Amino acid sequence: MKFLESTINLFQKKSLRQLVSNFRNEYISNGIDEASLKSNPIDQFEDWFNEAVDNKLIEPNVMHLSTATPYGKPSGRIMLLKGFDERGFTFFTNYTSRKANELAENKFAVMTFLWLGLFKQVRIEGTVEIISTKESDDYFNSRPRGSQIGAWVSAQSKPISDRTELEQKVDEIEKRFEGKAVTRPDNWGGYRLVPVCIEFWQGRASRLHDRIQYNLEKDHSWTKQRLSP
Ligand SMILES: Cc1cc2nc3c(=O)[nH]c(=O)nc-3n(C[C@H](O)[C@H](O)[C@H](O)COP(=O)(O)O)c2cc1C
Repeated sequence: MKFLESTINLFQKKSLRQLVSNFRNEYISNGIDEASLKSNPIDQFEDWFNEAVDNKLIEPNVMHLSTATPYGKPSGRIMLLKGFDERGFTFFTNYTSRKANELAENKFAVMTFLWLGLFKQVRIEGTVEIISTKESDDYFNSRPRGSQIGAWVSAQSKPISDRTELEQKVDEIEKRFEGKAVTRPDNWGGYRLVPVCIEFWQGRASRLHDRIQYNLEKDHSWTKQRLSP
């Protein structure tokens, strides 16, 4: 009995560090029907994004953005997609942040979407360009006032002494714009990832997933190929 108790105790005390390899799920889906894939991957992305919205997945526009220094040292962070069309995929941030500094020197970037509730992933590779000031202004003007003030307050990615520093800046900026519309700070705006390669991944049983990769060819057409999981 004592032995059993001590074994159970040992199991309960087993840390997640030891148990993490036991987390395992089968990804059950019908897979990708190649015949019904769109010839343009941006249209295909729209279909999958719609499916994520229709299925009420939380924050369907959340993605991971990877950038790198010119020497290839990578960095990543979660971001929100704020638009997409034939030109590419748009996000907004601070133009003096770590990611912005990396993009200024190395325009290659990758966005990765995970819609786990659908066992879907989309990976978008390409180069990043700054969007027009009009596009940035239009989006900035659509944001809630608190977020607009936040854009002025945060010197994103820079060290600060404490939270009071932020709160004092909020008071300053609120006074500055009292009774007026908050204009977009020059150091805040949008980027567009212009894609050259987009991969659609659909989880399937026994880790035999479907992967379809679209590549942009020299004549600006898109070709597709299936990749091994
Ligand atoms: C759900 C979620 C959404 C986010 N969306 C954005 C965003 O749209 N723009 C942004 O600048 N940071 C966003 N962030 C914060 C970034 O992850 C990151 O902390 C910030 O951009 C600084 O990154 P950097 O130091 O690598 O430049 C988001 C974080 C989370 C968790």
